Amino acid sequence: MALFSTFLLCFSTVINLVFAEAKVYMVLMEDKPTFSLTTKQKYMSDKDYTVHKEQISSSHTIFLESHLQKGSYTKLYSYTHLLNGFAIHVTSKEVLSILRNTTGVRSVHEDVKIEKLTTHTPDFLGLPAHIWPRLGGVEGAGEGVVIGFIDTGINPNHPSFMTSSSSGFLNSTKFKGKCDTGELFPSTACNGKIIGAQYFAHGAIANGEFNATRDVSSPYDADGHGSHTASIAAGNHDIRVIVDGFDYGAASGMAPGARIAVYKALYTFGGYMSDVVAAVDQAVEDGVDILSLSAGPSSVPSGDSAFLDVLELQLLFATKAGVLVVQAAGNGGPSSSSVISFSPWITSVAASITDRKYNTTIVLGNGQSFTGTGLSPPTDGEIDYNIAAAADVCVRNATIITVDSCQNPEPFIRPLVYRRLIICTYTFEYEYEAASIATVADTMMEIGAAGFIITLDPNIGPEVVKGTMLTLQIPAIVLNDMQASSALWEYYNANTIRDKRGQAVAFAAKARILDGRQALYTGQAPVVASYSSRGPDVKNALMQTVDVLKPNVMAPGTSIWAAWSPDSEGDKYVKGQSFALISGTSMATPHIAGIAALIKQRHPKWGPDAITSAMMTTADRTGHSGAPILAESSNELIQATPFDFGAGSINVSQAMKPGLIFNVTFKHYVQFLCAVPGIDVKSVKKAVGVACPTKNKFKCSDLNLASVTISNLVGKRKVIRYIKNVSHKEKYTVHIKEPLGVNVTVVPESFRIKRRGSRRLRLVFEAIEATNAYTFGEMVLKGKKHIVRVPLAVYVGSASSS
Ligand SMILES: *[C@@H]1O[C@H](CO)[C@@H](O)[C@H](O)[C@H]1NC(C)=O
Ligand SMILES: *[C@@H]1O[C@H](CO)[C@@H](O)[C@H](O)[C@H]1NC(C)=O
Ligand SMILES: *[C@@H]1O[C@H](CO)[C@@H](O)[C@H](O)[C@H]1NC(C)=O
Ligand SMILES: *[C@@H]1O[C@H](CO)[C@@H](O)[C@H](O)[C@H]1NC(C)=O
Ligand SMILES: *[C@@H]1O[C@H](CO)[C@@H](O)[C@H](O)[C@H]1NC(C)=O
Ligand SMILES: *[C@@H]1O[C@H](CO)[C@@H](O)[C@H](O)[C@H]1NC(C)=O
Ligand SMILES: *[C@@H]1O[C@H](CO)[C@@H](O)[C@H](O)[C@H]1NC(C)=O
Ligand SMILES: *[C@@H]1O[C@H](CO)[C@@H](O)[C@H](O)[C@H]1NC(C)=O
Ligand SMILES: *[C@@H]1O[C@H](CO)[C@@H](O)[C@H](O)[C@H]1NC(C)=O
Repeated sequence: MALFSTFLLCFSTVINLVFAEAKVYMVLMEDKPTFSLTTKQKYMSDKDYTVHKEQISSSHTIFLESHLQKGSYTKLYSYTHLLNGFAIHVTSKEVLSILRNTTGVRSVHEDVKIEKLTTHTPDFLGLPAHIWPRLGGVEGAGEGVVIGFIDTGINPNHPSFMTSSSSGFLNSTKFKGKCDTGELFPSTACNGKIIGAQYFAHGAIANGEFNATRDVSSPYDADGHGSHTASIAAGNHDIRVIVDGFDYGAASGMAPGARIAVYKALYTFGGYMSDVVAAVDQAVEDGVDILSLSAGPSSVPSGDSAFLDVLELQLLFATKAGVLVVQAAGNGGPSSSSVISFSPWITSVAASITDRKYNTTIVLGNGQSFTGTGLSPPTDGEIDYNIAAAADVCVRNATIITVDSCQNPEPFIRPLVYRRLIICTYTFEYEYEAASIATVADTMMEIGAAGFIITLDPNIGPEVVKGTMLTLQIPAIVLNDMQASSALWEYYNANTIRDKRGQAVAFAAKARILDGRQALYTGQAPVVASYSSRGPDVKNALMQTVDVLKPNVMAPGTSIWAAWSPDSEGDKYVKGQSFALISGTSMATPHIAGIAALIKQRHPKWGPDAITSAMMTTADRTGHSGAPILAESSNELIQATPFDFGAGSINVSQAMKPGLIFNVTFKHYVQFLCAVPGIDVKSVKKAVGVACPTKNKFKCSDLNLASVTISNLVGKRKVIRYIKNVSHKEKYTVHIKEPLGVNVTVVPESFRIKRRGSRRLRLVFEAIEATNAYTFGEMVLKGKKHIVRVPLAVYVGSASSS
């Protein structure tokens, strides 16, 4: 969960009356970084490499010294591996125009804010029974694979990251990451499970948002988010989740044998792109296999700046270097076109709700019962407790709104609340986060109530109630259903005796609350979570949707139990806990990163394209019951489309053996960039260092992805796909489920391919009828042992081309 948002004003220690507003910029240089040289001229030794890296870094220093006035800037980073450039903090406006005007400078980008995109899951995905045994058992699953986390750091004291004596350090010459030590992060923190840990804060410091007391100047996770994501992907197996003395079950990472490399570049407040870019540069230089990025910009970009942005560009080079980049799709759903992870070289992850549910029941004195939410203990004993509305047990001069939201212990009359269940209301204050359920719990414990009931405000209606998945130490229920709320009030009013002035004088309504901490495994699953960002993809400079399917694939993201930092300053709902139950595409992302590690272990030679293709072509479109997967929309469940879940819900056992894969190389991504309608081809050359072909017949829809998207089909469109055989002898036949209003033909209709050979498929899409909406279909390549599915998404602009 992360976002870039608008640039914030920052303070400057250098007083400059002309340019009071100091800013951070990322500057890319014309010269090549170390990575693009390694592909051509191999370094003789590590020492040569280091020398070259230092040369690039000092060339930046010399460049700055010779063009800029001393004191007008501070260099924060040199980027040397994937990008050749630097980040600087400037205090004078002239600096910018000088930089933009100097030869050797490729481009200048203002720093932007990044936001974090806020356990039973392994069983739900079928891991322990089917996959782990084949990969060397629980401890071996993912062995040898290094996952880099660009996040808020890690809590090295957590049981999810402890090493047993049997597991040793990674005996790899491939990974070269180091371990920074510092506050709360001793040298023993890197224990063989955690094999690298560094932190990047120059951008956050220069932007004035870093607070060393709160954010901690070391790889230590002072938030919790980074420990959560790392443990989902690669945490140890079978760790008991105990919160407030209650055992919620066991948690486990997807790939318990994978190694963790930590690159802390996000903080409680989010982060800055200048730090994230430095972290990615280091991670790829160190040799991670997979990058997990549960963060992104706060709004959906569009135009040339989208794909040619510093971070997107860098992630393209990371992909070229063989690193799979997995990123959260965003938490902007269910609105369409809300994906903030949009580049075709990135695997963008949607979030689902699994079949694990928590519900709480309240039983009234008249025998009626209602279900709601709240992970709370039951009321004591087999007895009923008196119910009292907050307004009826508070001093009369207190304002109604403060009283009803139960945020403050002060107005409550203690003898009237003692051992009673207090009714509070989910007022507007909760909507804008001036009130919280956590504060209600604190208030109720302080005043000595037996528990509380939160009812909905008829003026707000059945909105999504915030904070219901919070663990509570006091009996509680949130009646997030209008009918149940009114029924409770009806029962209360009928059993409360009032005097002439309306003051309650006798309370006879009673109820008890049952245990809300017991998980139930029920309902159709998976379901696309309402908050999960939806496609179609971003718009190009002509404000047309780009022909790439986003998101790519879906994994569990809702109510995920995983590791936390107990002394984090982050979320007040989970403060002090060693585990947190939280939701977001941030939580779905490390599921995919961990599963990708399992695939990488099984198929070490597979690149990012093959791994992504394998996960997509084998994903499930139907749930456990066999019915099509549904998506949470505004207030209902509707049939999910590829814009909700990409190719579908990850199917781990199938993803290990896809049969065929769709291959893509760097060259094709460049062709794609050159083909984006309205893009400035000169800026593509500037950005990637390769000129666009002059006669480019390549269309964005021709990029060899395991999906086909056509956002404006007029007449006929030919689309080419290549597939590679990665399995045994098999004959495939092609089956098409046509999108509405479209005729699709594929040549050949059946085929065989040579060992490691590839095959070309020619698809022709013909518009039959304008639909004024995207319609979806699929191409299925059926073999005896493999089924390869390719989602099709088409918008028929016009049925005729002439
Ligand atoms: C480049 O420098 C010249 C002269 O100093 C100035 O007039 C011009 O605006 C500058 N161009 C840019 C793009 O900053
Ligand atoms: C994965 O695919 C297999 C084979 O189609 C199927 O039996 C299984 O139910 C699917 N889902 C999961 C979660 O494994
Ligand atoms: C790594 O190497 C060390 C010594 O070279 C050895 O003792 C250890 O068992 C090896 N660990 C693994 C996991 O192979
Ligand atoms: C930094 O964080 C600490 C701990 O959260 C807090 O007490 C302090 O006020 C913060 N300092 C600033 C300048 O915000
Ligand atoms: C809540 O749980 C009870 C059993 O504890 C079950 O009967 C009821 O159907 C559940 N309600 C919902 C909405 O899932
Ligand atoms: C409300 O009344 C009580 C005494 O009845 C008094 O102590 C308190 O200050 C009053 N509060 C306000 C906000 O007027
Ligand atoms: C896929 O691989 C085959 C064989 O290596 C190659 O001929 C083809 O150009 C590749 N296609 C793409 C899009 O990379
Ligand atoms: C894929 O390659 C294998 C050999 O590795 C071969 O036996 C098989 O026939 C090929 N598959 C197809 C679909 O041609
Ligand atoms: C679809 O295209 C094929 C091949 O061009 C043609 O034979 C068929 O009639 C078309 N179907 C429709 C519904 O137009």
